[in-house]
Amino acid sequence: MKNFNFYNPTRILFGKNSIADLKDQVPDDAKVMILYGGGSAERTGVLDQVRSALAGRTVLEFGGIEPNPRFATAMKAVEMIREKEITFLLAVGGGSVIDATKFIAAAAKYDGDTWEILTSRGSVIKQALPFGTVLTLPATGSEMNSGGVITNPEKGAKLPFNSVYCYPIFSVLDPEVTYTLPTRQIANGVVDAFVHTIEQYLTYPAAAYVQDGFAESLLRTLIDLGPKALETPENYDIRANLMWTATMALNGLIGAGVPQDWASHMIGHEITALNDTDHARTLAVVLPSLMNDQRGPKREKLLQYASNVWGIHEGSDDVRIDAVIDATCGFFEQMGIKTRLGDYGIDAHDIDHIVTALQDHGMTALGENKAIAPDDARRILEAAL
Ligand code: NZQ
Ligand code: ZN
Repeated sequence: MKNFNFYNPTRILFGKNSIADLKDQVPDDAKVMILYGGGSAERTGVLDQVRSALAGRTVLEFGGIEPNPRFATAMKAVEMIREKEITFLLAVGGGSVIDATKFIAAAAKYDGDTWEILTSRGSVIKQALPFGTVLTLPATGSEMNSGGVITNPEKGAKLPFNSVYCYPIFSVLDPEVTYTLPTRQIANGVVDAFVHTIEQYLTYPAAAYVQDGFAESLLRTLIDLGPKALETPENYDIRANLMWTATMALNGLIGAGVPQDWASHMIGHEITALNDTDHARTLAVVLPSLMNDQRGPKREKLLQYASNVWGIHEGSDDVRIDAVIDATCGFFEQMGIKTRLGDYGIDAHDIDHIVTALQDHGMTALGENKAIAPDDARRILEAAL
């Protein structure tokens, strides 16, 4: 096992009616800004629950944060925060609202050009406003990690950042608020959490038996419960388990002490920057092709994944690897998510653009061995057409 330094300060308030409990987590004298997305939180009544929990406090609201949140929108919130001297942020939404809130929390305290927060991947962040979250879409793990991703269409960029100052102080996870999710977003969430787990598991053996066991358990849970959530969306235990699985998939626990990949994510971000394809759908295209392409370096873990997650034990190494890649694609398709680039309107010409963007953004040594260069990414994408 590799050495690690694991830190996660986010308090989790989990369960039915837990939104009311956020009143005890927000300081009494705070000037609060509630941040939300395109209106689902208003329609579903989640915002009203938050407003009731904060009754009697000084509260301002900022709505309109887009899926794949935009830099320009975030900067509007920063201006308002500075003008109104806001002291606490509360994100109400999915990964996009939470990621934007992290960026806004850091940008509001940053004296330089806030674009540097993204070009430095967050390393210039030295402080941030405190913030909490009310999660409405289990997927990204943003509710219990310190990372975010911001899109700037003018620059054709979707860039990740990370900072120890960007952990939420608390996150409220009420599985009942996920009942209103459209099928498309349930599926996106399951596949995103699945690929987060894979990015920290499907690398090379590191004698990290606990982390591998946790990861395999998360993967099996998603394979079992994902399709059931589509069939019976209002089953509390299914939604509760999926919500906690998505959080556990990217809160640092399974990633401690193990090699990590993230190539599918970095290539996927460039696809979203190109044509706004949903994040999870980009992963469902890139990952199977990457598994096939990287079957050499990933051989041992692919065989472990085949055996421990899918119960595939028969045949030669390559037969079992073929079978587990097919099973993974089959699972994504079962969730209603297509796995070819053509399904998202991307052709050979677009691949040039994606590969150039990877180069421009410094994504030239991806994967657990830093061995996936732009030409390898091109081969992986061409095989996914
Ligand atoms: O905008 P509103 O109206 O709120 O609607 C949203 C949005 O249209 C809707 N929604 C959310 N909760 C709902 C709901 N609709 C009905 N009922 C509810 N309870 O769902 C749509 C998608 O929301 P979004 O927040 O964009 O989805 P997700 O949580 O999948 O977040 C995706 C973003 O997170 C980034 C992605 O790149 C993408 O930008 N990621 C963040 C990560 C992190 N911080 O660690 C890691 C991930 O790998 C990912 O990159
Ligand atoms: Zn993701």
